[in-house]
Amino acid sequence: MGDTLTITHGDDSLSAEISQGTIRATELKKIVTPDGPLATYDPGLVNTASVKSSITYIDGEAGILEYRGYPVEQLAEHSTFLEVAYLLIHGDLPTADQLAVWEDEVNHHRLVHENASQVIESLRYDAHPMGKLMSGVASMQTFYPDARNINDPVARHENIVRLLGKMPTLAAWAYRHSVGWRRVYPSDELNYVENFLAMLFQMQERLYRPDPRLSRALEVLFILHADHEQNCSTNVVRAVASADNDIYTSCGAGVGALFGPLHGGANEAVLRMLREIGSLDRVPEFVAGVKSGKARLMGFGHRVYKNYDPRAKVIRQAVDDVFSVTGVNPLLQIAVELEKIALSDEYFTSRRLYPNVDFYSGLIYEALHFPPAMFTVLFAVPRTAGWAAQWLEGVLDPEQKITRPKQIYTGERRRDYVNIDNR
Ligand code: SDX
Repeated sequence: MGDTLTITHGDDSLSAEISQGTIRATELKKIVTPDGPLATYDPGLVNTASVKSSITYIDGEAGILEYRGYPVEQLAEHSTFLEVAYLLIHGDLPTADQLAVWEDEVNHHRLVHENASQVIESLRYDAHPMGKLMSGVASMQTFYPDARNINDPVARHENIVRLLGKMPTLAAWAYRHSVGWRRVYPSDELNYVENFLAMLFQMQERLYRPDPRLSRALEVLFILHADHEQNCSTNVVRAVASADNDIYTSCGAGVGALFGPLHGGANEAVLRMLREIGSLDRVPEFVAGVKSGKARLMGFGHRVYKNYDPRAKVIRQAVDDVFSVTGVNPLLQIAVELEKIALSDEYFTSRRLYPNVDFYSGLIYEALHFPPAMFTVLFAVPRTAGWAAQWLEGVLDPEQKITRPKQIYTGERRRDYVNIDNR
């Protein structure tokens, strides 16, 4: 008999097996309370495992992040985004032949139906690009209704590679629409990240070739953003998928969750924060404001990491690599000073608040000439690989069922209707 948790309550008792640090919550129902069978109350699912997954491992205390067991630092140094996408979705690094087939399949699907561009272009030019991307991704289901056949392995694979291929195109077209430039179509002469940059920034040149140092920096950022286990948006993707939804509908919802300033929207919020601070001499005043609860130090803190986010370390290095090409952004000095103060100030250290993935990434995006409104789009594009892997794992998990949590009801009970004249 393994480790067990015994709970007694009045005449009731249960002995629940502890497996991998958890007990099955349904075991608690054996304890009957005046309000019914015992359940747990866990706002934000802070201490609740909702899935079993073998995709991404995080040790928040030690600051460890591994994709299918490979340290993200090694993948950032040696791999490519499409190779990492293969790893996340298939579970192992591909052979050279497998990678070649995979790249061809994904790149074959980079074109987007013209009607989908009209979905994006039907929105205001100055609409936030995340709203345009969410609309574009969700609309993909209407172009590929076979995606609804989620129990067909061929349809699942076909729509995973379609989504991976089309995400950069949808993102780039959302950006081009906001600046009033004509759409640039995918080029088979460029790799995944170079092609994305070309669709974003090509003007009149016949073929846009980005600086390899900058496209490599973006590739590293893509690798670092590819997955992060059961974060808010992934939880949303899985919840929507749990109702037997296709990958486009599920990931469209994921884009919406990532849009939130506490989640993927933080990278955009960090740049706004650095600009509001404006100069080194105003950093102490801003930090005092954070400590008095007037503001949050965006790009700091994490539900899981109570140590330095390993991605932030790699991104910090990539900032120097990019600035060696583009010149240093003066906001970097403010970010470094903020980090120095926060890492030595008891308010932050006592709450174990460290830089997260969003703290430095915006500085690179700005150096690559992206407007802040595009920063979260740059998070959503690579995170699609993780969402796809998590969607697939959820669809194939025999233990999964439709997401439908309980509630603690705090409202009124049993009231009779009152005519409006008597209210
Ligand atoms: C991402 O989950 C993921 O994996 C997400 C992500 C991914 O790859 O998918 O890693 C990407 O979303 C990174 C996080 C980006 N968000 C930000 O940088 C926004 C700023 N950070 C926070 O708002 C906050 O840290 C969260 C939302 C990230 C985590 O919040 P928690 O775990 O719910 O913690 P909390 O809000 O309960 O805070 C605990 C304490 C509170 O103080 P007290 O009430 O105890 O006095 O820490 C304080 C908070 O006020 N706190 C902060 C803070 N973050 C937490 N105080 C100032 N500045 C902050 N950034």
